[in-house]
Amino acid sequence: MVWISVATYCLTPLLRLWSTVLAIFIPKYRIPKAPERLLQFIFADKSLFILEYLTDVYFQFGAFWYGKKIYIVDPRVSMKIINKLDKGAHDYLSSSPLNTSLIGHKEKSPKVRHAIASTFRKSNMEHNGPAMVEVVRKTAEKMKKMKVVNINDISLEMALDIVGKVLFGVDLKALDGCQDDLMQAMMTILHRAYALGEISTNSKEFHKAVETVDKSSKDILTKALNRQSEERSLPQLLHEAGGFEEAMDNLKLFLMAGSETTASSIPVLLYLLASDPSLQRELQAEADEFVYAISKDASVVPPKLESTVKELLRTYAIAPFISRQTEGEIALDAFTLPPQSDLRIFTWGIHRAPEIWNDPKKFCPDRFLTSTTKQQQQQQQQQQQQQHKTWMPFGAGSRICVGQHLAWVELRVALIYLLHKFTFRKVAQTESLDFCVDWEHAVVHPDRDVVLGVTER
Ligand code: HEM
Repeated sequence: MVWISVATYCLTPLLRLWSTVLAIFIPKYRIPKAPERLLQFIFADKSLFILEYLTDVYFQFGAFWYGKKIYIVDPRVSMKIINKLDKGAHDYLSSSPLNTSLIGHKEKSPKVRHAIASTFRKSNMEHNGPAMVEVVRKTAEKMKKMKVVNINDISLEMALDIVGKVLFGVDLKALDGCQDDLMQAMMTILHRAYALGEISTNSKEFHKAVETVDKSSKDILTKALNRQSEERSLPQLLHEAGGFEEAMDNLKLFLMAGSETTASSIPVLLYLLASDPSLQRELQAEADEFVYAISKDASVVPPKLESTVKELLRTYAIAPFISRQTEGEIALDAFTLPPQSDLRIFTWGIHRAPEIWNDPKKFCPDRFLTSTTKQQQQQQQQQQQQQHKTWMPFGAGSRICVGQHLAWVELRVALIYLLHKFTFRKVAQTESLDFCVDWEHAVVHPDRDVVLGVTER
């Protein structure tokens, strides 16, 4: 919109000049304070846009205050902080039904993570590739019967069945419609309440949804604990580590974090491919070449798809920021972080900073592809080393995403198989796509379901 461009054009030099003058004379202001009220007045409720804009304005300062939080936008400072600190901000997840799980507790996290580490190892996730392929095949069978598919719904069913099979050792039968209540409850909590703000977290509907998720977690845990098997499943490990109640809290986290994250990445990528048929054809050709090998061995890497997914996680970082809190004061080269301050390492902005990325706003599927000639490779290596340090969709340090290897294998297997089987095209229901933020859980969602036309190949 024209007025937004005019407003930002006029405001940017003023904010930079004012911040530079203050930083020179008053050490306290080395971290500039963004005029929150003014920006909200000008740009209304476009919070993600405001923060992206502020990243651009204050990039040279490395950080900025917005409200009561400090947003860190310098990648080197971010890495230092993320590796040094392991506690989420004061209010991170404070009103979430997940606040009793390991994600809400600095103290619980290392103990539980240690107990479950073997389950989430890269090699174990790759070993589970064939089990994931089975679920993806079932998904494709279901899709075959439809001409137009709600990709969000079917991806969530698929992701739930994969989490059920691979992590819990339980067939959840979400693709058979057996988890419709759970799915609706998850969407009520994560999308309707936290991301879209359509209902209050005090409403009856919200409480009912929380009860449904609690009941499902309890049922799954009971089923998994009664199961006889030589290998111990994740629920059994969680139970050994903390007893029934704690295991239930953590299982709820794995149910939600394990399914909703990958399930909202797939629709965005398929939407992008439906919008770019020639890219879709290229990836289909690669899928045809790799589908057999990957169905046998999930560690096989299809280079074009891998680069495309990395780019997806750059442009559409599902977690727009990583939450941390300082305990004591932290002195850095450029500024000092006060004790007890709430930090947001703003990956959404860092992944879009023109100082780091060429053409940062553009979705470039080949960005992470390795070049073929030696000279190109050398140049690219230097640039990529720099960029790879700033690419952190799964966070970093001791609190890095537990499920990152599961997510990678699942995305690889699912996308290769679905692109081998189908062509996706845009339909009127999803002409365009925007994003909304669930600030409580630090997650970005597509603002509506992605509905696509699907043709079998
Ligand atoms: C595309 C998929 C995914 C993305 C982009 C993603 C991203 C993230 C990020 C940014 C964090 C915070 C890391 C930090 O604070 O440094 C996180 C934490 C976490 N993720 Fe994921 N995630 C994904 C998939 C998954 C899956 C599939 C699971 C489980 C099966 C999972 C389980 C968790 C858990 C348990 C934590 C909390 C770790 C802790 O607090 O110690 N995630 N994830």
